[in-house]
Parts: sequence; C-alpha cells; structure tokens
Amino acid sequence: MAAERALITGASSGIGWELAKLFAADGSDLVLVARREERLKALADELKDEFGVDVFVLPKDLSDPQAPKEIYEHLKREGIDIDVLVNNAGFGARGPFANLDADMQVDMVQVNVAALTHLTRLFLPGIIERGRGGILNVGSLAGFQPGPNLAVYYATKAFVLSFTEALSEEMKNPNIKISCLAPGPVRTEFGEKSELDDSLLFKMSLMDVGPVVREGYEGFRHGKVIVLPGVKQKLIPVLLRFTPRFLVRKIVKSLQS
Ligand SMILES: NC(=O)c1ccc[n+]([C@@H]2O[C@H](COP(=O)([O-])OP(=O)(O)OC[C@H]3O[C@@H](n4cnc5c(N)ncnc54)[C@H](OP(=O)(O)O)[C@@H]3O)[C@@H](O)[C@H]2O)c1
Repeated sequence: MAAERALITGASSGIGWELAKLFAADGSDLVLVARREERLKALADELKDEFGVDVFVLPKDLSDPQAPKEIYEHLKREGIDIDVLVNNAGFGARGPFANLDADMQVDMVQVNVAALTHLTRLFLPGIIERGRGGILNVGSLAGFQPGPNLAVYYATKAFVLSFTEALSEEMKNPNIKISCLAPGPVRTEFGEKSELDDSLLFKMSLMDVGPVVREGYEGFRHGKVIVLPGVKQKLIPVLLRFTPRFLVRKIVKSLQS
C-alpha cells in the first residue's frame, strides 16, 4: 500500500508548519498549500532531507473561490491521492465589525469557512472510498462563544466546530478520523497579524505551538472529535455551558477591547 499522503493548508507558518513536521516524522507524504511559496519550498526541503518523505508544494490563495477546485484538479492530473486533509489556513482581524475592511472580512469567511468546506467536499469522497485517513479541521476556542471585536473570526470558528462535529457523526468507518483542533491563543504569527498581541484574553492563556500541535495530532490519530490543547483551555467550554450568554458576550468584549 502506498504511504499516506496529507494535504495541509496554511503550512507556511505556525500550526500548519509544525503539523507538517509531525505528519512527515510518521512517514506521511505531503502536499503543502499557502500563498508564500518560498516558505513552503523551504519546509519541503527540510522534510525531504530529514524524513525522506515526498512533498508537493502547491501555492494558492484560498481567498479565491476557485482555489479549492484548482487544487483538487491539479492533484488529480498529477495522480496524487489525498488520505488526510488538514484545513488549517485561517486568519482573524481585531476591531468593531463596522470599522474593519469589508472585503477583508468577506475573504476571512472565504478562507476560514468556504475553502475549508469546499476542500472537504472535494476530498472526502476519495478518503471514504480508500477507507483510511480523515479530516483535521483547525477551529479555535473562539468557536464556543460570540466574540465582540472579532465578530467574524469567532463566527467562522463556530462554523468549523459545528461542521466538524456533524461530519464526525456522519462518518461510518471508524478507520476514518474527523477532528476539530480547537486551541486557545497560540504563539504564532497569528497574534501580530490579527492585532491581538496586546489583548488581555490573548495574553491570559498563550501556549507555545509545539504542545498544541502535538495534542492536536495525537487527538486526531486517536479519533478524538474535539481536541482542546492545554489544561485551562479544556475547562472553558465547560464553564461556558453554565454561564448566561449575555454575560459571556460582555466578558469577551471587555477582555478583547
Ligand atoms: N495562533 C492562535 O492563537 C490560534 C488560536 C486558535 C486557532 N488558530 C487557528 O490556527 C490556524 C493557523 O493559524 P496560526 O496560528 O498558525 O497562524 P499563522 O502563523 O498566521 O498561519 C496562518 C497560515 O494560514 C495561511 N493563510 C492565511 N491566509 C491564506 C490565504 N488567503 N490563502 C492561503 N493560505 C492562507 C498562511 O499562509 P500564507 O500567508 O503564506 O498564505 C499561514 O500558513 C488558523 O486557522 C487560526 O485561525 C490560531
């Protein structure tokens, strides 16, 4: 049987970059997707040298609605089957919804939600047919509550959580794993890019990327549907269940103003 092949979106930095290393260390061949081609090539060279795996670099802008289909068709032409799809690419932006750029927020929905959904729909039938692998979607703790001052970002992550949970329940083959990795704040480029670095909520429970990714990877391999890396982080969804929503909204807003 051919080696497993994982496609990882957003592999040019942070969580995606580190996940690629874990898949490669276990012998998975890879397809790496993001916009920054040079970074993807550097990672591909590193993984080929260190682990002897095959790595295919496919630079794409996932805010382009055509990108998922182009990725799927490109790989089909190359005769590359995907066993594991890791939908990790994503971004956020801090500020009141009405003040943030409209096109940028629509792009956020496209990257965080539409591309993730489209890629899943394109690759899942092949995964089911081959009977192995699965889907690892990178959501966030943000998906468990509304997020004033990051309204669109939190809403996109609520979609990722709900969608992934539903898919996992539809899946009949126990060899196919469907997981949502839902970290709290993680030390990557994300904090600076989304202007969250100085937010109290972000600083309160910041984790290093290594342990987050390790827990996510192992959770996925063990078929855990929702993976919440960290100790405090595991408690938050439980606390949220017992806190009135009006209060949750106010607390998140005050910590993220
Ligand atoms: N860091 C956190 O605090 C945190 C917490 C919870 C969840 N998450 C989630 O974790 C995921 C990874 O984020 P990260 O923390 O690793 O941040 P990051 O270091 O900024 O990485 C984001 C990745 O997404 C890619 N990406 C962004 N826009 C894209 C586009 N239009 N087309 C293709 N690729 C795109 C970036 O690549 P290019 O720029 O090269 O395109 C990059 O590889 C995201 O979904 C994020 O929402 C992060």
